[in-house]
Amino acid sequence: MKILLVGATGTVGRAAKDALVARGHEIVAAHRSSPDYPVDLTDPGSIQDVLDRAGPLDAVVCTAGTTPYAPWDELDREAWLTGLNSKLLGQVELVRRGTAAVRTGGSFTVITGILAREPIRTGSVAAAVNGALEAWVVASAGELWGRYRLNAVSPTVLTESKDKYADAFPGYPTVDAAVVGQAFVRSVESMETGQIYRI
Ligand SMILES: NC(=O)c1ccc[n+]([C@@H]2O[C@H](COP(=O)([O-])OP(=O)(O)OC[C@H]3O[C@@H](n4cnc5c(N)ncnc54)[C@H](OP(=O)(O)O)[C@@H]3O)[C@@H](O)[C@H]2O)c1
Repeated sequence: MKILLVGATGTVGRAAKDALVARGHEIVAAHRSSPDYPVDLTDPGSIQDVLDRAGPLDAVVCTAGTTPYAPWDELDREAWLTGLNSKLLGQVELVRRGTAAVRTGGSFTVITGILAREPIRTGSVAAAVNGALEAWVVASAGELWGRYRLNAVSPTVLTESKDKYADAFPGYPTVDAAVVGQAFVRSVESMETGQIYRI
Protein backbone atom coordinates (compact mmCIF):
# COMPACT_ATOMS: atom_id res chain seq x y z
CA MET A 1 0.00 0.00 0.00
CA LYS A 2 1.06 3.60 -0.52
CA ILE A 3 0.97 5.33 2.87
CA LEU A 4 1.51 8.98 3.77
CA LEU A 5 3.31 9.07 7.14
CA VAL A 6 3.32 12.48 8.83
CA GLY A 7 5.99 12.73 11.53
CA ALA A 8 8.11 10.04 9.91
CA THR A 9 11.42 11.10 11.48
CA GLY A 10 10.27 11.09 15.11
CA THR A 11 10.60 8.32 17.68
CA VAL A 12 7.04 7.07 17.09
CA GLY A 13 7.28 7.84 13.37
CA ARG A 14 10.38 5.71 12.95
CA ALA A 15 8.65 2.86 14.77
CA ALA A 16 5.69 3.10 12.40
CA LYS A 17 7.89 3.46 9.35
CA ASP A 18 10.13 0.49 10.19
CA ALA A 19 7.16 -1.79 10.82
CA LEU A 20 5.23 -0.71 7.72
CA VAL A 21 8.28 -0.93 5.44
CA ALA A 22 8.96 -4.43 6.79
CA ARG A 23 5.45 -5.34 5.63
CA GLY A 24 6.27 -4.17 2.10
CA HIS A 25 4.42 -0.87 2.14
CA GLU A 26 5.55 2.24 0.28
CA ILE A 27 6.02 5.14 2.69
CA VAL A 28 5.75 8.81 1.76
CA ALA A 29 7.67 10.36 4.64
CA ALA A 30 6.42 13.84 5.59
CA HIS A 31 7.32 16.28 8.36
CA ARG A 32 8.04 20.00 8.72
CA SER A 33 11.70 19.89 7.69
CA SER A 34 11.33 17.25 4.98
CA PRO A 35 13.02 18.35 1.75
CA ASP A 36 10.58 16.28 -0.34
CA TYR A 37 7.24 16.31 1.52
CA PRO A 38 7.21 19.24 3.95
CA VAL A 39 4.05 19.60 6.02
CA ASP A 40 3.11 21.51 9.15
CA LEU A 41 0.04 20.19 10.94
CA THR A 42 -0.74 23.70 12.16
CA ASP A 43 -1.03 24.97 8.56
CA PRO A 44 -4.09 23.62 6.67
CA GLY A 45 -2.62 24.83 3.37
CA SER A 46 0.49 22.71 3.83
CA ILE A 47 -1.67 19.70 4.74
CA GLN A 48 -3.60 20.13 1.50
CA ASP A 49 -0.36 20.53 -0.43
CA VAL A 50 1.24 17.33 0.88
CA LEU A 51 -1.96 15.37 0.23
CA ASP A 52 -2.13 16.70 -3.33
CA ARG A 53 1.50 15.79 -3.96
CA ALA A 54 1.48 12.40 -2.25
CA GLY A 55 -1.90 11.10 -3.44
CA PRO A 56 -3.60 8.94 -4.50
CA LEU A 57 -3.07 6.98 -1.29
CA ASP A 58 -4.20 3.79 0.40
CA ALA A 59 -3.67 5.10 3.92
CA VAL A 60 -2.58 8.07 6.00
CA VAL A 61 -0.72 7.60 9.29
CA CYS A 62 0.08 10.48 11.63
CA THR A 63 2.73 10.32 14.36
CA ALA A 64 3.10 14.09 14.83
CA GLY A 65 1.49 16.80 16.90
CA THR A 66 2.72 18.65 19.94
CA THR A 67 1.15 19.84 23.17
CA PRO A 68 2.66 22.14 25.79
CA TYR A 69 3.62 20.68 29.18
CA ALA A 70 3.54 23.02 32.19
CA PRO A 71 2.07 23.23 35.68
CA TRP A 72 -1.70 23.63 35.63
CA ASP A 73 -1.65 27.34 36.62
CA GLU A 74 0.78 28.19 33.84
CA LEU A 75 -1.25 26.66 31.02
CA ASP A 76 -2.94 29.84 29.82
CA ARG A 77 -5.26 30.30 26.83
CA GLU A 78 -2.33 30.68 24.47
CA ALA A 79 -0.84 27.38 25.60
CA TRP A 80 -4.20 25.68 25.20
CA LEU A 81 -4.62 27.04 21.69
CA THR A 82 -1.15 25.78 20.79
CA GLY A 83 -1.99 22.22 21.81
CA LEU A 84 -5.45 22.26 20.28
CA ASN A 85 -4.17 23.69 17.02
CA SER A 86 -1.31 21.21 16.57
CA LYS A 87 -2.09 17.71 17.79
CA LEU A 88 -5.91 17.90 17.82
CA LEU A 89 -6.97 20.13 14.92
CA GLY A 90 -3.89 19.25 12.87
CA GLN A 91 -4.76 15.56 12.87
CA VAL A 92 -8.48 16.21 12.40
CA GLU A 93 -7.66 18.39 9.39
CA LEU A 94 -5.30 15.75 7.99
CA VAL A 95 -8.09 13.16 8.07
CA ARG A 96 -10.83 15.58 6.98
CA ARG A 97 -8.90 16.69 3.90
CA GLY A 98 -7.32 13.27 3.47
CA THR A 99 -10.58 11.60 2.49
CA ALA A 100 -10.22 13.17 -0.97
CA ALA A 101 -6.74 11.68 -1.40
CA VAL A 102 -7.30 8.18 0.04
CA ARG A 103 -9.12 5.51 -1.95
CA THR A 104 -12.47 4.29 -0.72
CA GLY A 105 -11.83 1.49 1.76
CA GLY A 106 -8.53 3.03 2.86
CA SER A 107 -7.56 3.92 6.38
CA PHE A 108 -6.43 6.71 8.68
CA THR A 109 -4.41 6.24 11.88
CA VAL A 110 -3.79 9.07 14.35
CA ILE A 111 -1.53 9.27 17.40
CA THR A 112 -2.84 9.93 20.92
CA GLY A 113 -1.19 8.62 24.12
CA ILE A 114 -1.46 7.34 27.66
CA LEU A 115 -2.40 10.75 29.07
CA ALA A 116 -5.92 10.22 27.76
CA ARG A 117 -6.39 7.73 30.60
CA GLU A 118 -3.62 8.28 33.19
CA PRO A 119 -2.70 11.74 34.51
CA ILE A 120 0.74 13.21 35.12
CA ARG A 121 1.77 16.59 36.53
CA THR A 122 2.03 19.24 33.76
CA GLY A 123 -0.01 17.09 31.35
CA SER A 124 -3.51 18.59 31.48
CA VAL A 125 -3.50 20.00 27.93
CA ALA A 126 -2.02 16.79 26.53
CA ALA A 127 -4.62 14.76 28.44
CA ALA A 128 -7.48 16.84 27.05
CA VAL A 129 -6.13 16.69 23.50
CA ASN A 130 -5.55 12.92 23.59
CA GLY A 131 -8.96 12.33 25.14
CA ALA A 132 -10.68 14.52 22.58
CA LEU A 133 -8.94 12.74 19.73
CA GLU A 134 -9.94 9.32 21.04
CA ALA A 135 -13.58 10.37 21.41
CA TRP A 136 -13.46 11.85 17.91
CA VAL A 137 -12.04 8.63 16.45
CA VAL A 138 -14.86 6.55 17.94
CA ALA A 139 -17.53 9.02 16.82
CA SER A 140 -16.08 9.54 13.34
CA ALA A 141 -15.56 5.86 12.56
CA GLY A 142 -19.31 5.39 12.60
CA GLU A 143 -19.93 8.19 10.12
CA LEU A 144 -17.08 6.99 7.90
CA TRP A 145 -18.32 3.40 8.04
CA GLY A 146 -18.01 1.61 4.71
CA ARG A 147 -15.92 4.41 3.21
CA TYR A 148 -12.81 4.77 5.39
CA ARG A 149 -11.42 3.16 8.52
CA LEU A 150 -10.11 5.35 11.38
CA ASN A 151 -8.13 4.22 14.43
CA ALA A 152 -5.80 5.71 17.05
CA VAL A 153 -2.55 4.36 18.47
CA SER A 154 -2.37 5.33 22.15
CA PRO A 155 0.96 4.25 23.65
CA THR A 156 2.56 4.68 27.03
CA VAL A 157 6.07 6.13 27.01
CA LEU A 158 8.25 4.38 24.45
CA THR A 159 11.31 2.61 25.84
CA GLU A 160 13.33 4.65 23.36
CA SER A 161 11.95 7.90 24.89
CA LYS A 162 12.31 6.83 28.52
CA ASP A 163 15.31 9.05 29.31
CA LYS A 164 13.64 12.10 27.77
CA TYR A 165 10.46 11.66 29.84
CA ALA A 166 11.90 10.06 33.00
CA ASP A 167 10.97 12.97 35.28
CA ALA A 168 7.45 13.45 33.90
CA PHE A 169 6.59 9.72 33.98
CA PRO A 170 8.29 8.38 37.12
CA GLY A 171 8.00 4.62 37.39
CA TYR A 172 5.70 4.25 34.41
CA PRO A 173 6.01 1.07 32.37
CA THR A 174 7.31 1.63 28.86
CA VAL A 175 6.57 -0.03 25.54
CA ASP A 176 9.17 -0.91 22.92
CA ALA A 177 9.07 0.92 19.59
CA ALA A 178 8.77 -2.41 17.81
CA VAL A 179 5.49 -3.12 19.63
CA VAL A 180 4.17 0.35 18.81
CA GLY A 181 5.08 -0.20 15.16
CA GLN A 182 2.89 -3.30 15.06
CA ALA A 183 -0.13 -1.29 16.23
CA PHE A 184 0.24 0.85 13.10
CA VAL A 185 0.49 -2.30 10.95
CA ARG A 186 -2.69 -3.60 12.58
CA SER A 187 -4.54 -0.36 11.99
CA VAL A 188 -3.48 -0.18 8.33
CA GLU A 189 -3.92 -3.83 7.37
CA SER A 190 -6.81 -5.09 9.49
CA MET A 191 -10.55 -4.54 8.94
CA GLU A 192 -10.87 -2.73 12.30
CA THR A 193 -12.23 0.80 12.68
CA GLY A 194 -13.01 3.05 15.64
CA GLN A 195 -10.32 1.30 17.66
CA ILE A 196 -8.01 2.85 20.24
CA TYR A 197 -4.90 0.68 20.49
CA ARG A 198 -3.85 1.20 24.12
CA ILE A 199 -0.34 -0.22 24.41
N1 LIG B 1 7.68 9.23 22.35
C1 LIG B 1 6.80 8.71 23.21
O1 LIG B 1 7.16 8.01 24.20
C2 LIG B 1 5.31 8.89 22.98
C3 LIG B 1 4.39 8.12 23.72
C4 LIG B 1 3.03 8.31 23.52
C5 LIG B 1 2.59 9.25 22.58
N2 LIG B 1 3.51 9.99 21.88
C6 LIG B 1 3.02 10.98 20.91
O2 LIG B 1 3.56 10.71 19.65
C7 LIG B 1 3.72 11.92 18.92
C8 LIG B 1 5.15 11.97 18.41
O3 LIG B 1 6.03 11.88 19.52
P1 LIG B 1 7.59 11.59 19.28
O4 LIG B 1 8.18 11.31 20.62
O5 LIG B 1 7.78 10.61 18.19
O6 LIG B 1 8.08 13.05 18.81
P2 LIG B 1 9.43 13.43 18.08
O7 LIG B 1 10.46 12.37 18.24
O8 LIG B 1 9.75 14.81 18.53
O9 LIG B 1 9.04 13.46 16.51
C9 LIG B 1 8.03 14.32 16.03
C10 LIG B 1 7.90 14.10 14.52
O10 LIG B 1 6.83 14.90 14.04
C11 LIG B 1 7.33 15.93 13.19
N3 LIG B 1 6.56 17.13 13.56
C12 LIG B 1 6.61 17.84 14.71
N4 LIG B 1 5.72 18.84 14.68
C13 LIG B 1 5.10 18.76 13.47
C14 LIG B 1 4.09 19.52 12.84
N5 LIG B 1 3.53 20.60 13.43
N6 LIG B 1 3.69 19.17 11.60
C15 LIG B 1 4.23 18.10 10.98
N7 LIG B 1 5.19 17.33 11.53
C16 LIG B 1 5.63 17.67 12.76
C17 LIG B 1 8.84 15.99 13.45
O11 LIG B 1 9.62 16.40 12.33
P3 LIG B 1 9.86 17.98 12.04
O12 LIG B 1 10.45 18.56 13.28
O13 LIG B 1 10.77 18.00 10.85
O14 LIG B 1 8.52 18.50 11.73
C18 LIG B 1 9.11 14.51 13.71
O15 LIG B 1 9.14 13.79 12.49
C19 LIG B 1 3.35 13.07 19.90
O16 LIG B 1 2.05 13.49 19.67
C20 LIG B 1 3.46 12.40 21.26
O17 LIG B 1 2.59 12.97 22.22
C21 LIG B 1 4.85 9.83 22.06
